[in-house]
Amino acid sequence: MKFDAVGMKNRHEKIIMLTAYDFQMAKILDEAGIDLILVGDSLGMVMQGFMDTKSVTIEDMLYHTKAVSRGAKNTPVIGDMPINSYRTVEDALNNAKLFLEAGADGVKIEGNKPEQINALLDHGIPVMGHLGLLPQTAGSYRVKGKKPEEAQKILKDALDLDQRGVFSMVLECIPESLAKKITETVKIPTIGIGAGKYCNGQVLVINDMLGFDLSFAPRYLKRYANLNKIIKDAVARFKEEVSEGTYPDKEHTYH
Ligand code: KIV
Repeated sequence: MKFDAVGMKNRHEKIIMLTAYDFQMAKILDEAGIDLILVGDSLGMVMQGFMDTKSVTIEDMLYHTKAVSRGAKNTPVIGDMPINSYRTVEDALNNAKLFLEAGADGVKIEGNKPEQINALLDHGIPVMGHLGLLPQTAGSYRVKGKKPEEAQKILKDALDLDQRGVFSMVLECIPESLAKKITETVKIPTIGIGAGKYCNGQVLVINDMLGFDLSFAPRYLKRYANLNKIIKDAVARFKEEVSEGTYPDKEHTYH
């Protein structure tokens, strides 16, 4: 994978990552020049309408990874290994290889899974870690690492992932002070979502930052657009013009 994660950290260059699930969005993100595209299993919510990521399958992920890879000509694509796709070392290896065949440049795994991660790294598959809130197994969506023993465990896992050789790690919904400590302690870059400003990069779910579903509003989320309104306004204009017969007009008709 052509991505100098540690170099970027050492040069204090922030890593910009966003999710994408389809060809056109991946093409836009690629043209916009971000560093990494994550085909997140958040597609379970934003593409499929489930409450969480727990029912996303490897087939779902591969379908979307193939579409994204066609659009991301220059940007490395990371495939998110869904729940149940890395229960055993064999599963992890087989499914990670399927991600690479689908066009991904690396995979992300939630939690500290030493044997699975070692196996992927031994086979030359770049791995992104993911610590803090782990949506695939979380009972509830809350900030993790507020209690000292929880914070200790996350820090220990971060050190472990770093030593194991993952190329970067997502830190999701943890206190800023903990994210800072991890970022200062590990060699690889941290990429935060709800983890404050000291991370080496930031990631957001593209549909959330573009404001598709305004009912989803966690504290960390900043909306950079209100596509919900833009789309509804466009649909209302189309509805009105078709109803009153002003569309299609001469300009939009073949003669
Ligand atoms: O699935 C996803 O989109 C993610 C990001 C929130 C990091 O894992």
